[in-house]
Amino acid sequence: MGVKAIYPGTFDPITNGHIDILFRSLRIFDHIVVGIGPNPKKAALFSLEERISMIQESVKGISHVSVETFDGLLVDFAKRHNAKAIIRGLRAMSDFEYEFQMALMNRKLDNNIETVFLMPSEEYSYLTSSIVKVVGSFGGDVSSLIPKHVHYMLKEKFNKNRG
Ligand code: COA
Repeated sequence: MGVKAIYPGTFDPITNGHIDILFRSLRIFDHIVVGIGPNPKKAALFSLEERISMIQESVKGISHVSVETFDGLLVDFAKRHNAKAIIRGLRAMSDFEYEFQMALMNRKLDNNIETVFLMPSEEYSYLTSSIVKVVGSFGGDVSSLIPKHVHYMLKEKFNKNRG
């Protein structure tokens, strides 16, 4: 199957910035597993099922990409897939310290898996899932930052929450 990499994250929700990184990583690796993992520090707006379906819809028709969830350590998930690398997006200097810590911890846990950092297009360099949720919750226009179906689901979610 060639060289596999894991693209992990919370993806709550997936944004155009994530998709940008995914396309860039497909230029380097033969197969990307998008892994929705646990981050105990974050309370998700979308359920795991919703996040899987949003990502699957975003990558529909693109070969060499699969979408999975995982529990436990990222390095164990990567090992189960026999993945050679973990992909992370680096947007700004402010990402660096956290990413540096995570990459070195993951290396300590498993020295056979490298973390590869890719930079998204500058138009997405300020983008996070949280900022999309905050702006979306107040009715701001985030349509150019997320796929159409994600935008629809975001609007649905906030309409439902408003009750
Ligand atoms: N475009 C837009 N946003 C991007 C982005 C890009 N290219 N790259 C990162 N982001 C955003 C994300 O949307 C996210 O925003 P948010 O904080 O508003 O949700 C933020 O940057 C970074 O979060 P994310 O990429 O989702 O990662 P995370 O920090 O939540 O970590 C895991 C998620 C799953 C990778 C991590 O928690 C993990 O590895 N868990 C498994 C347990 C484990 O092994 N822990 C030890 C690790 S050392």
